[in-house]
Amino acid sequence: MCMRPPLRSRPPLFHNSNLSPSKTRFFTSFHQKIVRLKPLCLAAIFIARFAAYAANSPTPLYLDPTRPLESRVNDLLSKLTIEEKIAIIHADSKFTTAAIPRLQIPRRWMSDGPHGVREDIGPDTWKPAGHTNDFSTAMPAGVCLAATWDPDLGYSEGTVIGQEARARGKDIMLGPGVNILRTPLCGRNFEYLGEDPWLTSRMAVGFIRGEQSQDISSCVKHFALNNQEYDRDTIDVEVDERALREIYLPAFRAAVQEAGVWCVMGAYNQFRGQHCCENGYLLNDILKGEWGFKGLVVSDWDAAHSTAGSALNGLDLEMGTDGPYDKFYFATPYLDALKSGSLPMAGLDDKVRRNLRVMLATDVFDPARKTGSLNTADHQAVARHVAEEGIVLLKNENHLLPINPDEVTNIAVIGENATRLQTHGGDSSAIKAFYEITPLQGLVNRVGRRVNITYSEGYDHRPDPTLEARAIAAAKSADLVIYIGGLNHDKGYDCEGQDRTDMRLPFGQDDLISKLVAANPKTVVVLEGTMVEMDPWLDKVPAVLQAWYPGMEGGNALAALLFGDVNPSGKLPCTIPRRLADSPAQALHAYPGVSGTVTYSEGLLVGYRWYDTREIEPQFPFGFGLSYTTFQYSNLKLVAGGLGGALVTAQFAITNTGSRDGAEVAQLYVHQDNPGLPRPDKELKGFQKITLKPGETQTLSIPLKTNAFAYYDPDKKAWVAEKGTFHILVGGSSRDLPLKDQFTLTQTDSFE
Ligand code: BGC
Repeated sequence: MCMRPPLRSRPPLFHNSNLSPSKTRFFTSFHQKIVRLKPLCLAAIFIARFAAYAANSPTPLYLDPTRPLESRVNDLLSKLTIEEKIAIIHADSKFTTAAIPRLQIPRRWMSDGPHGVREDIGPDTWKPAGHTNDFSTAMPAGVCLAATWDPDLGYSEGTVIGQEARARGKDIMLGPGVNILRTPLCGRNFEYLGEDPWLTSRMAVGFIRGEQSQDISSCVKHFALNNQEYDRDTIDVEVDERALREIYLPAFRAAVQEAGVWCVMGAYNQFRGQHCCENGYLLNDILKGEWGFKGLVVSDWDAAHSTAGSALNGLDLEMGTDGPYDKFYFATPYLDALKSGSLPMAGLDDKVRRNLRVMLATDVFDPARKTGSLNTADHQAVARHVAEEGIVLLKNENHLLPINPDEVTNIAVIGENATRLQTHGGDSSAIKAFYEITPLQGLVNRVGRRVNITYSEGYDHRPDPTLEARAIAAAKSADLVIYIGGLNHDKGYDCEGQDRTDMRLPFGQDDLISKLVAANPKTVVVLEGTMVEMDPWLDKVPAVLQAWYPGMEGGNALAALLFGDVNPSGKLPCTIPRRLADSPAQALHAYPGVSGTVTYSEGLLVGYRWYDTREIEPQFPFGFGLSYTTFQYSNLKLVAGGLGGALVTAQFAITNTGSRDGAEVAQLYVHQDNPGLPRPDKELKGFQKITLKPGETQTLSIPLKTNAFAYYDPDKKAWVAEKGTFHILVGGSSRDLPLKDQFTLTQTDSFE
């Protein structure tokens, strides 16, 4: 250890031979005091000077929230050195970028993700940081949110996550994920919002608006065509221009143009031979050019592949998985390229400007920036409400559900997922939840001591004859069986980084369910996770619910639905085929690709567009979901004009014809007669969710703008709504559309 020599041992600095020894002692001691006090004196002088300067100098323009955003951005940009600019466009740890204290630029902190604020990750490893203050409310997964078909709930879920992100000190939240469900096997389908571009767009817009209302930037991901996890880092996607524009891009476009999202994450995969984070067509031409995106493009973690390619093709911020961060493409190599003149300074300024714009727009310098809140009663209520509205009742023969607690004494709850904590799985979308109500806990909470619940696992990650025998015995002696199985977030199921290899229920569950229903015909099957083949047992089982991953209040929500406290109203955001081989990418052998390239040869025929156009009977169609009440649709009228510049408005009535309050999602599809280019049989163009009392009728209006009739014409590079006849189909699912009318467009219209 290096120690400072004691002052006493220093030679006197004042040495004047004219001074008497006593005076010399006095001055020497005075000087020693001065030396001791010097740092304090200097600090005092500095503070006084700075205070005087601050009092006299105006607030820098960029810190003045009353000034226009662009002026603030330009002012701040003009103050940055080239090194500081470089610091702004790359990571300095796993989830942060560097602070620039000289200009009061704080360290920016990003976090996953779409279902809540992820636990903090260590700065340089993927291990948890080990904090005790990084819990969050675990919201239902994206696919469950989409199954609510309620953009207002998207707004609520986004708002909760935004508030929690602020409370956890985050600036950018890495979600929502809006990649289209192309194959049932994709490991991240649970994070996304289903198979339809219109539904996905509406839900994403709601979510982003809510989240960004909290001084947070959302980050819509993964742009674009990240529809499989298999080979995700390298797979090259070939897709025709129409499918790109009509199926895979609309949710991103809506996020940019309607929700004003501030951040877009480039995907890992390639598109037409170029990695998405350096894909000039996607990033420069479409996103920034055609759509006018003013925010920043961040790479997925480690998805940048070169300095020049990323710099010139639209990437604005490089994040990654491993340091050293100053070796990132957008760190020293970029600085060197700028200094040598091989890359233009204007390009850097544009990137920095975008980053600063997002900081200023989300108030990072503002002392009045929202401070957020965590795990409030409201947050818990939203988590529960989304789950209640998103769980889908698929089958309910002979009104087995809802359960009347006065009519059952013994319930056998069977299945590993009844007690499994799901919210902490799935990788980047995982949550360290404040708590998680499992299905079993939810049922116990609901029935208390009135009903005896016996729990047995039935299987344990694989078939287990002892557990199976115990479960069958429990089923035999119960009044009712509630089986809670399905998938989980282990690698190879619903988890980032890998796809499933088949669509079957794992761990011998098909067999187990068949045996349980043979032992007790009153068996309700509840499936967590994404879709599975149900053919082996569906005919025999009287009631089935698709519960997805319903978040930390999921158990309570499920119990409320099973006992009829809440009437199911969720509808499928994706078709469930009878068997995997029926689904488009599999049927056409267009998954997972050959020699590193996957060609989307089904084109536009994704999801119900495929099953309907090819007349393939699905197990459960897109938009399907039962209720404990019934609804009747009537009186469809097409009225010219309407809200928001609509061409025509579809008006129709819905009546609750049953005996319970209930909510219905009315869906409107459009079919064009003899289109100039082939179109799918029908396309969803509007929907609305409505709650009705028994016997109540309400009239709904769904306005249709020109874009509801248009397809993308690659030759014209424009959307075209052709003159001709369109059928408007309205009802409760894509295969139950009792109301029909026709609309004639009298002239062709094209637009960008
Ligand atoms: C995922 C992103 C995520 C990022 C940061 C990547 O592996 O694809 O969705 O936001 O990691 O965790």
